[in-house]
Amino acid sequence: MDMDALLTAAREVRAHAHAPYSKFAVGAALLDEQGRIHAGCNVENAAYPQGMCAEAVAIGHLVAAGGRRIVAAAVVGEGASTVTPCGGCRQKLREFAADDMPILAADLQTVRARFTLGELLPHSFGPEHLA
Ligand code: THU
Repeated sequence: MDMDALLTAAREVRAHAHAPYSKFAVGAALLDEQGRIHAGCNVENAAYPQGMCAEAVAIGHLVAAGGRRIVAAAVVGEGASTVTPCGGCRQKLREFAADDMPILAADLQTVRARFTLGELLPHSFGPEHLA
C-alpha cells in the first residue's frame, strides 16, 4: 500500500479547499480496490449546512470513477488537535470499507495518528445489515 502517495494526494488537494467560513482546510485521499487514489477537499457554502467534508467529496470521486471499495484513507488538516473524520464521514467511509481499513490522520509535515475504521466507528451499521 503506497501510503506516501496517499498522503501527498491529501496534502495537495487540501490546497484547493473552499473554506472561507471556517478557514479550516481539509484534504482527504482514498485508495480504491484497483490501486487508484481519489482525492477531495472540503467545499463550504454560504448556507453553512450545505458544506461538504473532504472525505465526502473524495468518496464521490471514487464512486464516480467506478471504484467500489476503500482500502485506505488519509485525512490532512492543520491545527493544535489531530484532524480525524467527523462522525458522518466515518459512516460514509463505512459504506465502502472494512473494519480494518487504515485511516491516517496527518498534517502537512507528519502523520499524527493512525487508526482503523473499526476503532473510529465501533459496532457500526453497514450494508450487510440490510442483506
Ligand atoms: N471537515 C472536513 O472536511 N473533514 C473532517 O474530517 C472534519 C471537518 C471540514 C468541514 C468544514 O468545512 C471544516 O472542516 C470545519 O469543520
